[in-house]
Amino acid sequence: MIKRIITPIIGLYFCSVFLLNCKPSDTNPLPIGPTVYHLSYPDYFTAPIIPSDNQMTLEGVALGRKLFYEPILSGDNTQSCGSCHNQAFSFTDNTLQFSLGIDKIAGNRNSMAIVNLAWDKAFFWDGRSKSLEEQALGPVENPVEMHEDWANAILELSAHPDYPTLFNKAFETSIITKTLVAKALAQFERSIISSNSQFDRDYLSTKKIEGALTNPKNSLEMGMKLFYGKADCWHCHGAVGDFLFTDRAFHNNGLDSTFADKGLELVTKNVMDRGKFKTPTLRNSQFTGPYMHDGRFKSLDEVIEFYNSGVKKSATLDPNMKELAKGLNLSTDEKAELKEFLLSLSDYTFLSNPNYKK
Ligand code: HEC
Ligand code: HEC
Repeated sequence: MIKRIITPIIGLYFCSVFLLNCKPSDTNPLPIGPTVYHLSYPDYFTAPIIPSDNQMTLEGVALGRKLFYEPILSGDNTQSCGSCHNQAFSFTDNTLQFSLGIDKIAGNRNSMAIVNLAWDKAFFWDGRSKSLEEQALGPVENPVEMHEDWANAILELSAHPDYPTLFNKAFETSIITKTLVAKALAQFERSIISSNSQFDRDYLSTKKIEGALTNPKNSLEMGMKLFYGKADCWHCHGAVGDFLFTDRAFHNNGLDSTFADKGLELVTKNVMDRGKFKTPTLRNSQFTGPYMHDGRFKSLDEVIEFYNSGVKKSATLDPNMKELAKGLNLSTDEKAELKEFLLSLSDYTFLSNPNYKK
């Protein structure tokens, strides 16, 4: 031990005193630059969407995780992203219909799950952000959310004992900017992957879906058959083999015939987009209630009953909802089977994965 400390000191002494051309020892090289982060996901997932100007690194993901739980990003230093996106509820807001910002004012939309967003391409219920980097800039200044000036948040982060070093490690600069904060948050969010549900283990990874659909052997497989068949859910929540359980598109699924929230129309200004909202993933929906953009349904039973008998007609109703709008007439058993299928998408290890914790 002593030798290990003394030897370099003696070496340095000879190098400097005798001006020898000594090379740094390569037995213990200093780490140079951030380390590539290898996103791991099952082979039945496709390649994720990683922007070329924000490649994931171990240091970037670690910084993003710290920032995700950092109350400095809010006006009164009480609220973080994690306040409204709680891992135990698949990163939604603790069963609240509407989240409360720091000024205790409620918004008008239900918090969204953060699950497998590395495969997604438009964010928020109305898709107003085209990347996670862009999305992450929103909540900090949103008056009904964290209600903080970016300039002030940057001052606080820059004066913090840890952040300048952590930004240096992740981005090789200690000059903190909101763009870098957003990049780090996006890297962390892309690392949040759910792929360990019963449906992953027993069907997606073993390619046993087709067999179960031709010859369903239990109530779960009967539910699967409804989902991919008569109940038409797959049109928007993913066809056979899809691993996201969302088509990542926007639809009017018939919740209303007149619209308090115009959804996608607010972004595109096109009246034909009225009442269209982002299809949410059904992964972990057991934990993400209440449901829909305005959290109107308390339980999955209410959601299933809506699709069974409550679909409302309007000019923008999705063509794939036309059959459901006539009424599905599911029996009590069929509704229970469909629910059992939805519950098979629950990933319990995800809810307590230490990599995503504070
Ligand atoms: C006060 C509660 C609150 C806070 C704090 C908050 N969010 Fe959200 N988040 C929401 C709500 C509500 C929505 C849906 C809003 C909408 O569609 O208009 C949302 C949507 C999102 C989405 C979109 C998901 C998707 O599938 O499109 C992401 C990503 C997200 N938030 C990340 C963050 C990050 C990162 C932070 C911290 C910088 C943060 N949120 C802070 C409540 C919150
Ligand atoms: C035409 C497309 C479409 C079809 C078909 C469809 N959905 Fe949806 N689903 C959506 C959209 C869009 C939303 C969000 C709507 C909103 O919030 O305004 C949604 C929301 C949900 C939610 C709430 C998830 C959450 O986190 O809030 C559940 C659960 C759900 N659907 C299950 C189903 C089931 C089960 C079926 C089949 C009976 C089905 N969906 C058929 C598009 C569709």
